[in-house]
Amino acid sequence: MTEIFSKINQAQTTAELEEIRVLVMGKKGSLTARFATLKSCKESEKKALAKELNSIKIEFEKALADKKEQLTLKELEAKLNAEKIDVSLFSPSSQKGANHPVMLMLDRIVEYFVGMNFSLNVGPLVEDDFHNFEALNLPKYHPARNMQDTFYFKDGKLLRTHTSPVQVRTMESQKPPIRMICPGSVFRCDYDLTHTPMFHQVEGLVVEEGRDSVSFANLKFVLEDFLKYMFGDVKVRFRSSFFPFTEPSAEVDMSCIFCKGSGCRVCSHTGWLEVLGCGVVDNNVFKAVGYENVSGYAFGLGVERFAMLMFGVPDLRAFFESDLRILEQFK
Ligand code: PHE
Repeated sequence: MTEIFSKINQAQTTAELEEIRVLVMGKKGSLTARFATLKSCKESEKKALAKELNSIKIEFEKALADKKEQLTLKELEAKLNAEKIDVSLFSPSSQKGANHPVMLMLDRIVEYFVGMNFSLNVGPLVEDDFHNFEALNLPKYHPARNMQDTFYFKDGKLLRTHTSPVQVRTMESQKPPIRMICPGSVFRCDYDLTHTPMFHQVEGLVVEEGRDSVSFANLKFVLEDFLKYMFGDVKVRFRSSFFPFTEPSAEVDMSCIFCKGSGCRVCSHTGWLEVLGCGVVDNNVFKAVGYENVSGYAFGLGVERFAMLMFGVPDLRAFFESDLRILEQFK
């Protein structure tokens, strides 16, 4: 037995211990065999032998258990060491995501206006007729409603066709002065090279008390400065236009960033790119929200249009087809 105990002492692994256990206590183990002799031993010696065997067994089991505890701990430690992960190691195979170009663009636009002390606002995507049209000086049957192909719900609600309803909602819930932008998705029933049924706009609205406090000149300054911030040294021009909710209204063009104004395919050989709609807020809009004796300007821009120009993407639909070959370029 002393030999067995020294074997236990020298064991290096729990597997070795198990071998020893089988050798001693297994079906054909040495101690098992000695227990078997109890059956045939003399009645007078049985008690003493049984006592001896049992004490050997207890001693053996205790030695085994002690060593096992020791080895298990050692093995666990070795296992943990082997599985240790060095989190500082560079992993060349990891897949990194990228920001979507439209969101990159949106961030930059928002950054400019937040820097100019505009606050950020949001509104619902499912709108009612009043906020999307009526309050924006677009009464029912007004021909200008056909400018936008609207998705309607059965109950008369609709998917907002522009972010302008947020102008109305902001004025309903706040008193002037207002200086806000609203980025968000808008929806129109349209699909081709330059139109998708969902796209993003950023709306801007500035309102101050007093009929002459805010003028077209203020609007002009901010938008010109904004376009230069976004696209660098561009020329900017304001072309008279029409929106029901602004008077006077203008569309803003900047000199083509691809041909520098000499004419190319992107600008249809005009040298100019149309990038914004804007104007002085029409008094009828103020009336609809119960404002009196105020003045303000508003503008709206298409984020995808900006992103197409900024990143040189020729087909608007590329933004929404989830083609990794395109999206990966924005890492
Ligand atoms: N809402 C207009 C559009 O979607 C853009 C616009 C906003 C024009 C604010 C003027 C003032 O085309």
